[in-house]
Amino acid sequence: MRVILLGAPGAGKGTIAKLLSDHDGSVQISTGDMLRAAVKEGTDIGKQAKEYMDRGDLVPDSLIMRIMEERLQEDDCKNGFILDGFPRTIPQAEELKKLLAKLNMSLDMVVNLDVPKEVILDRLTTRRTCSNPDCQEIYNIKSKPPTPEGKCEKCGFPVIQRDDETEEAILNRLDTYNEKTAPLIGFYQSEGLLRNIVSLDSKKTVEAIKRAL
Ligand code: AP5
Repeated sequence: MRVILLGAPGAGKGTIAKLLSDHDGSVQISTGDMLRAAVKEGTDIGKQAKEYMDRGDLVPDSLIMRIMEERLQEDDCKNGFILDGFPRTIPQAEELKKLLAKLNMSLDMVVNLDVPKEVILDRLTTRRTCSNPDCQEIYNIKSKPPTPEGKCEKCGFPVIQRDDETEEAILNRLDTYNEKTAPLIGFYQSEGLLRNIVSLDSKKTVEAIKRAL
């Protein structure tokens, strides 16, 4: 499948992307995970991205497009991909359209994960993430806890709260989403690709996406 997952911070893009990837082997491409790994490794891109991410601001489009242009040409994308957290702005969506045309690829669907704001705030304050940059499994102290010792079930690394999970950064990310990312819903609607799914139960959401494909 070639799918984009849209949705506010905490809507469940990462959770749904991992379930879809388990279903048919399409690769999950999360710009957030890639950037967090770059920050942890101290690469040039990581150093440039860190201050934006910690504040809850978007990283500049030019930096993201540099990463994605390379990433979409890697071999594992040939069997399909699930874009999680990209595109995030209208310019990114326009650049992606050009890039896919150049690579002779087309999108199957763009899914908007529609989740009420109060659910989102609760999910973000209770989320925990594996600290291993190669794993980044997502947990939640209410709905999907890590081991009793606070370790990742998959790789054993400690499970932590992300640096952008302060209340101030969360509120800024939600504002940024409304201003810069929500307009993508209209963009993909006019492209005839959008499917809106009220997403409260991850399994039901995955089934709805599979049916729609
Ligand atoms: P990114 O990592 O993409 O963060 P985000 O969009 O804010 O999304 P989240 O990861 O916070 O949430 P999610 O929707 O994946 O939800 P999750 O599955 O974890 O980006 C981080 C930063 O990087 C940005 O702020 C920006 O600075 C930068 N960046 C990244 N991409 C960029 C781009 N393209 N352009 C510019 N800058 C970019 O779920 C949330 C919680 O809810 C979890 O605990 C989960 O277990 C739980 N949960 C999920 N579904 C359910 C359910 N059905 N029931 C109960 N609990 C659930």
